[in-house]
Amino acid sequence: MATLEIKNLTKKFGRKIIAVDNISLEVHDGEFLVLLGPSGCGKTTTMRMIAGLEEVTDGTILIGDVDVTELPPRKRNVSMVFQNYAIWPHMTVYENISYALKLKHMGKSEIDQVVHDVARMTKISELLERLPTQLSGGQQQRVAVARAIAVSPKVFLMDEPLSNLDAKLRVSMRTELKTIHASAKATTVFVTHDQSEAMSIADRIVIMQGGKIVQIGSPEEVYEKSADLFVADFIGTPPTNFFDVELKKTGETLHLVHPHFDLSLSPKNAALLQGYDKDRLVLGVRPENILLANEQAKIMSTTVLVVEPQGSHQVIAFKLDENIIKMVAPAQPKMKTGTTIHLNFKQEALRFFDPDSTLAIGN
Ligand SMILES: Nc1ncnc2c1ncn2[C@@H]1O[C@H](COP(=O)(O)OP(=O)(O)O)[C@@H](O)[C@H]1O
Ligand SMILES: [Mg+2]
Repeated sequence: MATLEIKNLTKKFGRKIIAVDNISLEVHDGEFLVLLGPSGCGKTTTMRMIAGLEEVTDGTILIGDVDVTELPPRKRNVSMVFQNYAIWPHMTVYENISYALKLKHMGKSEIDQVVHDVARMTKISELLERLPTQLSGGQQQRVAVARAIAVSPKVFLMDEPLSNLDAKLRVSMRTELKTIHASAKATTVFVTHDQSEAMSIADRIVIMQGGKIVQIGSPEEVYEKSADLFVADFIGTPPTNFFDVELKKTGETLHLVHPHFDLSLSPKNAALLQGYDKDRLVLGVRPENILLANEQAKIMSTTVLVVEPQGSHQVIAFKLDENIIKMVAPAQPKMKTGTTIHLNFKQEALRFFDPDSTLAIGN
């Protein structure tokens, strides 16, 4: 195991396409880092450069303080699992896992030991004599993971390894990968475009957009302190609600004025906006931070448009002009379409964004 450090990494395809644009990041020893972003944002290209499958245009890749930027893949001590697991169809599971170990001239009994160890970890001990065609998708994926960790890589790379699996299996494989990581403790970079997968599996998340890194942080940080409008919208379901508001001061109190509400800010929130000198901003409110209120505490009233019961809670949608706003409320009392509701916002969870730069204001 080792740390992985990427410094000012850039990849251009031809003159026009900048797939990866000057990114820098550090993966700690034993960390599970997730690269998250929409399709085409440069995740796979980044992984291929780390693995040595793609030449870098600019920048440096260090694995455990060794500059590997110019090293061929086999000298980097990196294992990669792809979306299409690509286990060899003509070999048994045992042979699939042991193949790379044989190439390393490992002894027969040692190989046997390693194969059984990783098979136990990935729960495929019963399947070692089978051929890939005799395995389900989830089992094949486990074989691919077992094969990749058998070689004890310094860095373990997984590029959308779960996206070929059906929804339910994908969710249970997440938990399994996390358990495998907890026992193998390999420094891992995991790629996904699925924010909920990233949130549930990552130690830290790197959010990419258009070849650039937008934010690096723990799942809680990127959720609660999204760095810009893109992240606030991309992370979380339902996503953050946005309101274009005007800033007004009456006496000592700062107000956010919207066609449907006039919100007096708490002193703490007002302090966050101290250095901000424009008269408009974008207010971001997560669905769970829109609260049902009584007549006295409300800042606005509206009627329920749609209710989506979720068992443990309900998602309530309402309309402000042309915008659909979604809030999350406890499962009870059950809401109905057409009911009038009174609302307030949870002050300490409000987020403010500069409409021009799209960046978060205040931190
Ligand atoms: N071999 C290539 N030649 C030209 N353009 C490429 C090549 N590989 C990737 N790209 C482009 O680089 C960008 C990033 O691609 P990729 O890294 O595959 O994104 P992601 O994995 O995040 O979906 C995309 O615009 C893609 O079309
Ligand atoms: Mg990709």
